[in-house]
Amino acid sequence: MKLTSRSCAILAIALGLAVAGRAAAETVEEAAGKQVFHRCLACHSVEPGKLGFGPNLHGIVGRPAASLPTFVYSDALKQSGLVWTEDNLRHWIAGNTTFVPGTRMRHVAITDRAEQDYLLAYLKAQSDIMGPAQAQILLDRAAAFLEREGPVRAFAAFNDPKGGFVARELYVFVFDMNGRYLASGANPALTGTDALSLRDAEGKELVRDMINLSRAAGGGEVDYVWLNRVSNRVEQKRSFVRRVGDYIVGVGYYLD
Ligand code: HEC
Repeated sequence: MKLTSRSCAILAIALGLAVAGRAAAETVEEAAGKQVFHRCLACHSVEPGKLGFGPNLHGIVGRPAASLPTFVYSDALKQSGLVWTEDNLRHWIAGNTTFVPGTRMRHVAITDRAEQDYLLAYLKAQSDIMGPAQAQILLDRAAAFLEREGPVRAFAAFNDPKGGFVARELYVFVFDMNGRYLASGANPALTGTDALSLRDAEGKELVRDMINLSRAAGGGEVDYVWLNRVSNRVEQKRSFVRRVGDYIVGVGYYLD
């Protein structure tokens, strides 16, 4: 980590805070990140649900961009197709107006690598699980991408951890109408395998349900129990599925 005088000063303040016990649960890096976050506080909150001039940043690391239903985003950010990975957040805070031209966020320039590290440590600590809004947005994007780019490019992007379709515990999966996996962002190795008779831990034939729903109604939601690969626990999952041509595209979120 490269330390400039500015980032050293921030670290010194954070050390003071941590030693004083006022930030007992925080690591020093997180405490330092909280200092850097003062430059964002005028517009952003990390308290769940709190509204501001800018979108709430609780759980931002790994969230699809422009995915809070309560905030009116610029078209530029909505169309960016970004997921807020650490890399993308670094680009954004180093020069958001160049990274996403047309964004409504005023230019910020946090280019110091150490300051970026602190800020990311802090933002990562303000985490949560993602819900139906983020799953729907990812599904909308995936369906639009498949229609626009065709199956070969789309399935490759869905399977690529950096393809813009994996957002923390959310990912895109695709079946053909016979229940064969064509993509799975959680486990690309499943591509090509037959999942028609797959049952969850409670014996539910979830893929058959998805196919029936897609045939009858063009899509819908299916509940089952599934491994959350981020928490590494088997949890209740709800997936939204949508028929796109002869493909079934889905994204699910965890209810626990
Ligand atoms: C002057 C107000 C302002 C300041 C200061 C500000 N932002 Fe923003 N920010 C916004 C607005 C407005 C948006 C929505 C942009 C859009 O829709 O194009 C936004 C969007 C974002 C997003 C995307 C959120 C999402 O849900 O996709 C992130 C991440 C973000 N800001 C991080 C930061 C960080 C980190 C800082 C401090 C270094 C910061 N911002 C400083 C106003 C601000």
